[in-house]
Amino acid sequence: MPINLLYQAILTVSKAQLSNKHIILGVTGGIAAYKAAELIRLLRQHNAQVRVVMTQGAREFITPLTLQALSGNPVHLDLLDPEAEAGMGHIELAKWADLILIAPASANFIARLTNGQADDLLTTLCLATIAPIAIAPAMNQAMWLNSQTQRNCQQLQDKGITLFGPGSGTQACGDVGPGRMLEPLELSELSAALFPTGLFSDKKIVITAGPTREAIDPVRYISNHSSGKMGFALAQAAIDGGAQTTLIAGPVSLEAPEGAARIDVISARQMYDAALTAAADCDIFIATAAVADYRPTKLADQKIKKDRNPNTQDTMVIELSLNPDIVAAVAARPDKPFTVGFAAETQQVVDYAHDKLTRKNLDMIIANDVSAAGIGFNSDDNAVTVVWPQGQQQIEKTSKRQLAKLLMEHIAKQYQRTNS
Ligand code: PMT
Repeated sequence: MPINLLYQAILTVSKAQLSNKHIILGVTGGIAAYKAAELIRLLRQHNAQVRVVMTQGAREFITPLTLQALSGNPVHLDLLDPEAEAGMGHIELAKWADLILIAPASANFIARLTNGQADDLLTTLCLATIAPIAIAPAMNQAMWLNSQTQRNCQQLQDKGITLFGPGSGTQACGDVGPGRMLEPLELSELSAALFPTGLFSDKKIVITAGPTREAIDPVRYISNHSSGKMGFALAQAAIDGGAQTTLIAGPVSLEAPEGAARIDVISARQMYDAALTAAADCDIFIATAAVADYRPTKLADQKIKKDRNPNTQDTMVIELSLNPDIVAAVAARPDKPFTVGFAAETQQVVDYAHDKLTRKNLDMIIANDVSAAGIGFNSDDNAVTVVWPQGQQQIEKTSKRQLAKLLMEHIAKQYQRTNS
C-alpha cells in the first residue's frame, strides 16, 4: 500500500478511537512547545475536542493565542483565574478530560508531578483527575539520562502514568541523544491507542502466537525463530478493539498485554488442545503461531548420547511424525469461528497463501515473506498481503504494533461482511 494510503488507513482507525474524546493538552516550557500546534491540529483532525493548559514556562515558547486559535477553545493559564472559574474551573476541567496529554513535558514538570505538587493549574489538574495521564518528555539528553529524572519517570509509570517516548536524535542545543519529544503524528497515534476502537465490543477473539517446541530428548528440541511479537501485537489490538481476548502462547519471553487471558503451551499438541477448547466459544480465531509441522516420533527418556547412537557417527536420523493442523481443525468445526491464518513463505508468497486459504477452509490469510530482511520472524516490523476469498490487499512495511491495528480493521470488515 502506498504510504499515503497507509496513513489514510491508520487515520481511519485513530479517528474512530479519538472521535469526540475530550483531551486536555498540557504544554510545559521547552523548545518542543512549538510542536503542540501541529499536535492540536492532528488531534482535531481525529475529531477529538482539545482544551489547552499552558504553564508559565510554555508561554515563553509559544503564544496562548496560537493554541487558542488551533484548538478552538480558550487556553487555560492560571489556577486562580476568576474568569475561568466562572466558566470551566479546574475541577470541572479535570472531570471533563478523557485524557490529559502533556507534550512537551519538561524535566521540571516531571519532577513536580512526581512529587504530587499542586502549585499551578496543570499539576493541580493531574491530581484532581481520574482520567488517564500520558506525558511526552522533552529535554536535553543529559537531563533525561540523569538518575533523578529516570527515578521520577519510573515512579510516574508505577502510578499508572503513560510515557510516550522520548525519542533520540539531534537536539535543539546541538547534543545528540535521547530526550527528543516524539513527533506530533506519533503522539496522536499513541493517544488514540489508549482508547478502545470499539471494533470488537462483545466479541471473543482467540489468538495463537510464538513458536512451538517439539522435544527430542530432555535437553533438545525442534523449534523456529518466532518471537511472538506479531501475535502479541494482535492481542493488544484486539483488546483495544474491546474484544475479550485469549492469547495462546508458545515459549516466548514477552509480557502479555494487560487484559488478555494468557495460556502458555510448549508443544504443537498442547497448543492444539488449548486452541480447540478456546475456539469452541469464540467469534474470531487468529493463528499467528509458527507451529512445528512435525515432532520427533519418539521422545527419548534420557539425553541421547553420541556413542550410543545406533546410526553412524556422522549422521543421525530422527523420525518425525506430522503434528495436527490447529487452524484447519478450528476451521473444520461445524460452528466454525471467523478463522484467520498466517502464511510464512519464502517464495510465491501470495500464490501459496491462496492455496492455504482454500485448503484450510480459512476466511482470511495474512501472507508474509519470511525470507526478506527486517520483517517476519523476530523483527519489530512486518510487511504482508491480506488475502480473503474475494480480494487481497498489500500492506507495506510498518511496525508490528501498527500493522496489528490495520489487520484488526481488515478482520472486522470481513467479519461483519460474513456475519451480516
Ligand atoms: O512471532 P514473530 O517473530 O513476530 O513472527 C511472526 C510470524 C512470522 C511467525 C507470523 O507473521 C507468521 O507468519 N505466522 C505463521 C507461521 C507459520 O507457521 O506459517 P505456515 O505457513 O507454516 O502455516 C500456515 C498457518 O497454519 C498458520 O496460521 C499457522 O499458525 C497454522 N498452522 C500450521 C501448522 C500447524 N500444525 N497448525 C497450524 O495451525
